[in-house]
Amino acid sequence: MRTPKDFFRPLAVGAPAPLTEIPARPSRAIHFFDPGNPKMAAKVPDMVGSTDVLLGNLEDAVKAENKEAARAGLVKIGQETTNLGGQSGPTQFWTRINALDSPWVLDDLTTIVPAIGDKLDVIMVPKVQEPADIHYVDRILAQLEAKAGLDRPILVHAILETARGMVNIEEICGASPRMQGLSLGPADLAADRRMKTTRVGGGHPGYLVRQDPPDGDVRADRPTYQQDLWHYTISRMVDACAMHGIYPYYGPFGDIADVVACEDQFRNAYLLGCVGAWSLHPRQIAIANKVFSPSVEDVEHARRVIAAMGDGTGAVMLDGKMEDDASVKQCQVMVRLADELAAIDPELKKQYDTIQVDA
Ligand code: GLV
Ligand code: MG
Repeated sequence: MRTPKDFFRPLAVGAPAPLTEIPARPSRAIHFFDPGNPKMAAKVPDMVGSTDVLLGNLEDAVKAENKEAARAGLVKIGQETTNLGGQSGPTQFWTRINALDSPWVLDDLTTIVPAIGDKLDVIMVPKVQEPADIHYVDRILAQLEAKAGLDRPILVHAILETARGMVNIEEICGASPRMQGLSLGPADLAADRRMKTTRVGGGHPGYLVRQDPPDGDVRADRPTYQQDLWHYTISRMVDACAMHGIYPYYGPFGDIADVVACEDQFRNAYLLGCVGAWSLHPRQIAIANKVFSPSVEDVEHARRVIAAMGDGTGAVMLDGKMEDDASVKQCQVMVRLADELAAIDPELKKQYDTIQVDA
């Protein structure tokens, strides 16, 4: 049995010490690109600074015959793009490796860590089923980091896209001090659960509730209300992540043209506690940046409550509403997030700086 103290010892001689806390780095949009696609790869240098995270995807959506080109492209981008990744750049550099049972994943890890491990912030691991999957990645990363002489650990992010992963979610989140967060993978999860959908994320018109019949007339027209297919899954993910001090993300929204529904799905996730979402097209970066940044009105209200509550205890009336210890804590979450985002987003900082609150 490993003791809690062992948890924070490196898993290989010479590997960097594990972090005791996962830094709260803004990651509203995780923008996916195919590093083996020369057109997409050429755009990467200009995207640094325009999105919180750039993720070179090696897994699904990259054809089997292009897996090696994608891996080589990722290395080239990591080596040649200035200001991308590492602790100080404006844009984090992540990758999604192939699944642990695929023929590519070992070469993914043994190629990218020595070549660009110093630039990579987070490795996203797909189709995670159980803590043993994270233990495997944890150990091999420690060995590769030691060999490469890295001085900070690469963090790990798991995609929640199997029923078994869902059932083991708390243990997965706590499987390693490297665990940075979880993303919902609605497409693979739907398939694995045998849901009867054929979409990549978002709702379904058939998943609804219907108003009761007026005066018992079951043949009368009755309004229906579409429900959120992902409510349970996202809520469960948020709790598991919060419990372990790591970060939850909504994953992909496949209907690129439907920017309105994408914004709705992202906002539901934001309100439930997620910190970001994936972007599959540059237009989704703007949506995620907007949705996952607290509005000026919310930040203004939060600052007013904090100012009115003084030492944060007791209760006050503000605009006819009762505020107390619990509402001030919610307001502190909002203001902390706004401060973190303002530190990396000058446009947002300008907007938040216009807020004036009397102490
Ligand atoms: C993402 O990988 C998904 O399966 O939705
Ligand atoms: Mg998937």
